[in-house]
Amino acid sequence: MSEQGSIYLHIDYKIGHYVKIVMDEVFGIENFRNDITRIKCNPKNFNRLGYGNLKDLILFYTKSSNPIWNEPREKYTEKDFEKLFPKMDKQGRRYTTVPIHAPGETENGKSNKPFKGVLPPKGRHWRTDVETLAQWDKDGLIEWSSTGNPRKIIFADEREGKRVQDIWEFKDPQYPTYPTEKNPDLLDLIIRTSSSENSIVLDCFCGSGTTLKSAQTNGRKWIGIDQSVFAIKATKNKLESVEGDLFVAKPDYEFEELEESPAANSL
Ligand SMILES: C[S@@+](CC[C@H](N)C(=O)[O-])C[C@H]1O[C@@H](n2cnc3c(N)ncnc32)[C@H](O)[C@@H]1O
Repeated sequence: MSEQGSIYLHIDYKIGHYVKIVMDEVFGIENFRNDITRIKCNPKNFNRLGYGNLKDLILFYTKSSNPIWNEPREKYTEKDFEKLFPKMDKQGRRYTTVPIHAPGETENGKSNKPFKGVLPPKGRHWRTDVETLAQWDKDGLIEWSSTGNPRKIIFADEREGKRVQDIWEFKDPQYPTYPTEKNPDLLDLIIRTSSSENSIVLDCFCGSGTTLKSAQTNGRKWIGIDQSVFAIKATKNKLESVEGDLFVAKPDYEFEELEESPAANSL
């Protein structure tokens, strides 16, 4: 794996914790990034001893401390906008305000000087130098409270969305073409976040070929492996469903059969 590579291992909740120990040994516990909870289905009313099972897990490791990381963002919902940006300016723009000071005092820096005659509260310093604060104020980005406390204005329409957290809801496809077919949006998220154009994406248990299709449509190179003849057929079908157009090239690929493959002749 490339030094900038990542590995995502999607596994059932019954076995995931044992696999984590093996992954820690192989990739190093320092490279363990997340144990992502994946919500896979709606609640079910099966009669079983124990609680219902809605989730499985994805163990995410990077090869090093310098992986490819394209910070993903999730769109705000209307509810998020109302909760996170409760204020509205005269033009109808939603915003919130945040403090412009942070813990700790600086003795000689520019961030402990008075800003418009106001000093940072005791034990705190300005988050930036007073010249920048003055510029923010000139640009209308500081809101002054009735008691003379300045806060920075953050507009909702200037934010790209919220940080993606470690609980993901990507339900399994309702009519899968292969029994374990994954949700393509889940694969798009992983591939866009942890690889760049022309990176090589490997799915060594490629099943339906959904990972390979996602890699193709996102402009990545890819390698898929599977021992099952049904998986190879499903993968071929999946790749054929990629339309060649200006932005998404039709896949150009080759199959290699391993000599001992029992399925090779029946393809
Ligand atoms: C959970 S499925 C993969 C799902 C796939 N990512 C998708 O989206 O459809 C696991 C796949 O691993 C394949 N497999 C299991 N053991 C294998 C092995 N030793 N070598 C190659 N493929 C294997 C199975 O045939 C099966 O298609």
